[in-house]
Amino acid sequence: VKTVLITGATGGLGSAVVRRFRNEGYRVLITVRNGHEHSFTGDPDVLSYPVDLTVEEEVETIFRKIASEHAAIRAALFLAGGFAMGSIETTDSTKLREMFSLNFEATYFLSRLVFQHMLTQPEGGRLVMVGSRPALDAADARNKLAYALSKSLVLKLAEIFNAEGEQKNVVTSVIIPSIIDTPTNRKAMPKANFSRWVTPEEIAEAMISLCSEKSKAWRQPVLKMYGSS
Ligand SMILES: NC(=O)c1ccc[n+]([C@@H]2O[C@H](COP(=O)([O-])OP(=O)(O)OC[C@H]3O[C@@H](n4cnc5c(N)ncnc54)[C@H](OP(=O)(O)O)[C@@H]3O)[C@@H](O)[C@H]2O)c1
Repeated sequence: VKTVLITGATGGLGSAVVRRFRNEGYRVLITVRNGHEHSFTGDPDVLSYPVDLTVEEEVETIFRKIASEHAAIRAALFLAGGFAMGSIETTDSTKLREMFSLNFEATYFLSRLVFQHMLTQPEGGRLVMVGSRPALDAADARNKLAYALSKSLVLKLAEIFNAEGEQKNVVTSVIIPSIIDTPTNRKAMPKANFSRWVTPEEIAEAMISLCSEKSKAWRQPVLKMYGSS
């Protein structure tokens, strides 16, 4: 059985991704913030590990436990993150640090441990991170300053991991979604044309491919998944 570790599993994207990997026959390990409810409770194929991903010591402790309980980790998907509006005028250090912590540190603290672990696995491994369109496209970053900056670090981190992981078959991919068709987004933008948005299921399918044998020849994959928006 292949094992996948998934963060942000309780989110709008995460629940579809967990379902898809479970249906593919993976053993699914999810991180959950202490005490937060989730719909996979009691599911024997989904094992949950409580951790606040922005607290480095907690991440180190939980990863030691995960690595001791599961010999090989085939894939790790870093979905935890968040969004905030903010212009150049309104983005002060507090707002900057909030996004840095939620989008960059929550990915970095765990992925650096997973990456090092995968380097020691004879078969390597696959990491998948989630960027965002404003991190690539400055015109889209207007009024999303801290968000765009924090996500651009995730893109850079993936590049650095790939430079180091190349010889060991450890490949880090990035998915760059535009607006995802989640219940939260539908509620926030009730008048939008939802059919133009990329769906969590489409992203989950791409992640399956990125972690499968099909991706053997792919290096530094970056997938823009904008749907038709
Ligand atoms: N939604 C979009 O339109 C969109 C567009 C582009 C990119 N993205 C990116 O895609 C990813 C998933 O988005 P989403 O819409 O599924 O987000 P979401 O519904 O807000 O879910 C965020 C997930 O991250 C977890 N999380 C947040 N802070 C955490 C922490 N400190 N420790 C552990 N877990 C934490 C949340 O757990 P709790 O349940 O405990 O809160 C939740 O599972 C994010 O990285 C987001 O930036 C989203």
